[in-house]
Amino acid sequence: MSKILIKNIKTLFQIGEDLPQYKKGKEMNQLSKIDHAYIAKEDGIIVAYGSMDEWEGITDWRDVQVIDAEGKYVFPSFCDAHTHTVFAKSREEEFVDRIHGLSYEEIALRGGGILNSAKRLAALSEDELYEQSKKRVELLISYGTGALEIKSGYGLSVDSELKMLRVIKRLKETMPIAIKATFLGAHAFPQEFKENHQGYIQLLIEEMLPVIAKENLADYIDLFCERNYFSVEEMHQILDAGKKYGLVPKVHVNQFSVLGGVKKAVEFGALSVDHLEEISEEDITVLKDSNCMPTLLPSCSHFLSIPYGNARLLIEQGLPVALASDFNPGSTPSGNLSFVWSLACVKMKMTPEEALNALTINAAYAMGLEKSHGRISLGYQTPLILTKEIPSLAYIPYAFGDQHIEQVIF
Ligand code: NIG
Ligand code: FE
Repeated sequence: MSKILIKNIKTLFQIGEDLPQYKKGKEMNQLSKIDHAYIAKEDGIIVAYGSMDEWEGITDWRDVQVIDAEGKYVFPSFCDAHTHTVFAKSREEEFVDRIHGLSYEEIALRGGGILNSAKRLAALSEDELYEQSKKRVELLISYGTGALEIKSGYGLSVDSELKMLRVIKRLKETMPIAIKATFLGAHAFPQEFKENHQGYIQLLIEEMLPVIAKENLADYIDLFCERNYFSVEEMHQILDAGKKYGLVPKVHVNQFSVLGGVKKAVEFGALSVDHLEEISEEDITVLKDSNCMPTLLPSCSHFLSIPYGNARLLIEQGLPVALASDFNPGSTPSGNLSFVWSLACVKMKMTPEEALNALTINAAYAMGLEKSHGRISLGYQTPLILTKEIPSLAYIPYAFGDQHIEQVIF
């Protein structure tokens, strides 16, 4: 049995036995804490925590690893509920094209973007793709990510979509963090189906979904509902097919335009609606009536120079907000959630507490891990972030660009 004790913690955050499933509205600014604290884990499970003043010591010291956290903070590791971590290659040529004035949408219309990534991915073997992706997951873990959602969507053919999902399955089996897989076959229309949308959708429904279900390759289903991508009617068709296999939606909506995708996703019981750089009054009304998690991706806004999701409006309307990285080679080539934390504070005017709730408890909910991650409660298996010696929690989003995490404890 492996036992870990962290003692003399300056403050232990996001702690307790009676936290809600997720935090919304004013609750988002609240962060439960214990000053001068300890926490113990056995075989990865949280078994005890409390104030050092009430600590009764340990009777059996055999095999206990003790960490002295004097001057340091501990909180649950980040959950990244929206990423495209499995991809073939970076796309910095498109980044340079954008510096010269082309927009993300213009590049995509010329065959760049998602189609560019699909071409590159088709050329890699499953083993090569796994090795590249594994390195990225290790990097994300070093940044404090303790649970990760990964989408397919750079395959866009039966073979390549299945290849991606099998790589994600292997990562689930080999990496030390919780991973959820999302089927995003409907990420873009491949060139040969540009004029034949129904042909590609039939491929998704008849050739991909049955194998995915049989091999248990996906936890969720996603699609990119956007002009030049998938319409709301096509979304209905795809989510309806996913539903027959028990796949719950987590969808890309409202990145560039409001088409009505939020309402359709909520109708299908979506766990989350992601992006929301654009939002309508109707979207807010629909969300208020649901348990769907609005998930904002500020590092995508930063990198593409598009508007930021309106976190203040959502919170003022009493809604919850989750934050994720959207790590992918086109719109967000970084999976660093400390940077997302900083952007959320600087650009979206979220308080450091709201943003940490959005990156932990709410993000865990947005990936179906609310019973094991995102908070420090007895029996939970969330990895823990141990910070370096820093003056306050707000110092993390404040002193952006530096690594304030000393260690991630599993
Ligand atoms: O979430 N918006 C759609 N998909 C990704 C970008 C994909 C790409 O450009 O490779 C996103 O931003
Ligand atoms: Fe995305």
